[in-house]
Amino acid sequence: MTARTIPLPSPDLYYPASGVSVVTALRERRSQHEFAAEHLSLTVLGTLLNESAGLTEVFGRGTPSPGRAYPVSCVVAACAVDGLPAAFYRYDPREHTLAPLDTEVAPREWLQRVLANRTIADTEAAHVFAVGDPRSAEQHFGPNADRFLMLEAGQLVQSMLLVAQHQKIGACTIGRFDQAEAQALLGPATGGGPVLHSAAFGHYPEARVQSAAHRSAA
Ligand SMILES: Cc1cc2nc3c(=O)[nH]c(=O)nc-3n(C[C@H](O)[C@H](O)[C@H](O)COP(=O)(O)O)c2cc1C
Repeated sequence: MTARTIPLPSPDLYYPASGVSVVTALRERRSQHEFAAEHLSLTVLGTLLNESAGLTEVFGRGTPSPGRAYPVSCVVAACAVDGLPAAFYRYDPREHTLAPLDTEVAPREWLQRVLANRTIADTEAAHVFAVGDPRSAEQHFGPNADRFLMLEAGQLVQSMLLVAQHQKIGACTIGRFDQAEAQALLGPATGGGPVLHSAAFGHYPEARVQSAAHRSAA
């Protein structure tokens, strides 16, 4: 671990039931296109990452990976997370740490330029990008490499959406971003791989907190 690496709260082996079942989470999941001006806690972000992408001896990984190759990494653009300077970080799924990327680029401004949806970029607290390692994929999957990278990235983001819903955190899966810009900034940190998919996270705005659908999951 380098001096600047940030440990995330340990995965909770007895992750408490929030009362939101998988079926309820699926029924209540809706893309959130605007978020409250409230920071996410490091625990919420850590849980999102740990439960979807984290690798533990006890649980393996929440999201499946062909042949347990795990060729898709998570890069976080943290805009408003308590205890986390606004910056880009690579998630280490075994150590449960965030390592800053070697860049001075400000995440909010960058997201505002790169995402097609400006309101999301203006208000989200954190954005997670799924970045593939094509060499690992080629080595493990051969002719299926491109397809398996995309499939794993999709499953990874879906896991995050469900964990977000479980925590009653707003989320939106985001496929429309400037591929070339994303690749240029995030690719080198992850072996130069393609930026495959992404999702935005933040607290619900007041209107959604008040909605009947949200209250029914309480
Ligand atoms: C692969 C994929 C890419 C998407 N990309 C975006 C996006 O770039 N921006 C956005 O606002 N929503 C995006 N969405 C969200 C869809 O627009 C949304 O799921 C759809 O409108 C249905 O609404 P719901 O998610 O609330 O059910 C994407 C969804 C998928 C599955």
